[in-house]
Amino acid sequence: MTEIIETYRKEAGKCAEKIKKHRSVHVVSHIDADGLTSAGIICTALERGNFEYTTRFVKQLDEKALDTIADENHELVVFTDLGSGMCEHIKSRGINAVISDHHQPQGTLEFHLNPHLFGANGSYELSGSGSTYLLASALGKNRDLSPLAIVGAIGDMQHLKMGQLAGINRIILEEGVKGGDIEFKKDLTLFGKQTRPIYKLLQYSSDPYLPGLTGDEEACINFLHSLNIRFSQDERWRRWIDLEISEKQKIISGLFQYCLKSGIPSYRIERLIGEVYVLLKEREGTEMRDASEFSTLLNATARYDHADIGLAVCMGDRENAYEDARKLLAEHRQNLVNGLVYVKENGVTQLENIQYFDAGSQIKETIVGIIAGMSSTIVENRNLPIIAFAKTEGGIKVSARGTQDLIRRGVNLSEAMSVVSAEVGGAGGGHDIAAGATIPENAKEEFARKLDFFIGEQLRRKVNTRVN
Ligand code: C5P
Ligand code: C5P
Ligand code: C5P
Ligand code: ZN
Repeated sequence: MTEIIETYRKEAGKCAEKIKKHRSVHVVSHIDADGLTSAGIICTALERGNFEYTTRFVKQLDEKALDTIADENHELVVFTDLGSGMCEHIKSRGINAVISDHHQPQGTLEFHLNPHLFGANGSYELSGSGSTYLLASALGKNRDLSPLAIVGAIGDMQHLKMGQLAGINRIILEEGVKGGDIEFKKDLTLFGKQTRPIYKLLQYSSDPYLPGLTGDEEACINFLHSLNIRFSQDERWRRWIDLEISEKQKIISGLFQYCLKSGIPSYRIERLIGEVYVLLKEREGTEMRDASEFSTLLNATARYDHADIGLAVCMGDRENAYEDARKLLAEHRQNLVNGLVYVKENGVTQLENIQYFDAGSQIKETIVGIIAGMSSTIVENRNLPIIAFAKTEGGIKVSARGTQDLIRRGVNLSEAMSVVSAEVGGAGGGHDIAAGATIPENAKEEFARKLDFFIGEQLRRKVNTRVN
């Protein structure tokens, strides 16, 4: 890994030199937590370097978006958390570009930072924000931006594969620890330790799913009562961070016992505890203190057309932008809950190698992927990839989510989405474990059938290579 990061830093140095030849930069990034933190990192670095800069956030870097960007005749465009899949299209439009991304590359470009090009895996060893952090470090003194790189990696769920951040991500984490910006430790992995009442952590637990507790507020409250945990103090709900160590231990061992009794396999129970990342310079009890809560706060802005608010939070605004982001977060949470209820009520259709649900226009296409990922906890068969359809302007948005186990068995959702969407006249890509596409309005059934077949082929291919 040290060799890979040295090469990466060298390439980052070249890209930084390229940027320094210009006065003004247009930053184009992705509308999710990793995209926002990437933009936050590069914009801060540009500001510190006295560059002029403008920003644009896109759902997808398609040809139409590139046409618009090309028409604007920017001196230099820096693409972060996207671009790698569009190298040829960027070149053919004559856009003067630097790319800092981690999605599967298609084509080549001179100033191009991407872990896949240097022998690291972009789905768990480096995120868009991590790549952009290395670029910013080559541009100037920007090591204090490492927390944003970690938040982006967590937003893309890069810690799940190894149970902790790995690869180049880990090196960035260590820099953050050395700088006194970040702490990592083993703790409860449930979402909301900084900001939510304790029972909510259980109520919304999706990984692991807690049968009899997940989704049932009263049951969660009773469970904590049975452990003699005090709920409130000074008329405030107590949060995980308000508990004494002994109380935390009581809850954790109570949960382990509960899960064992419910017959949950031990590898899943063990996921209750894992490495968590604390941003030490942020105020306790705020979303920004916890990498996972921070990333969700950012998703709540960008995925609802308010990337400007998330970017401002990334760049340090802890007043107006933060207040606005919190309002959006409340709505986002409600939408996630509603989305899960929709999937539960309408069910999923199982084919041989995939399962899918069609959200129509009931779930916003920018969050349908998140809901596809979270619904793994409510579907019957967790061994099939989950595919979600949602209406989008002029077509259908598809999101696909898999599991580590499926990847081990040969599934690559990025390849599948890219090939099969092209066959029906659409376009797609992403990562092995999480991918997306846009397809024409009338192509849903055909797409599902073909994808089912293609993923079957991926599984068979793997079995055959094992036999041979
Ligand atoms: O653009 P993009 O890189 O955002 O995609 C990352 C997506 O992949 C996120 O929505 C994340 O939730 C998903 N993912 C996942 N499980 C993983 C890794 C990533 O669902 N193990
Ligand atoms: O885009 P991706 O699939 O990563 O998004 C999943 C998001 O949902 C994560 O940011 C995660 O923190 C959030 N989440 C949540 N409440 C839960 C579980 C996950 O807001 N109970
Ligand atoms: O939108 P969703 O969260 O499902 O996206 C999952 C992954 O697929 C992301 O990495 C996203 O960038 C990628 N994707 C893509 N082409 C699309 C849609 C999504 O490469 N048309
Ligand atoms: Zn990303």
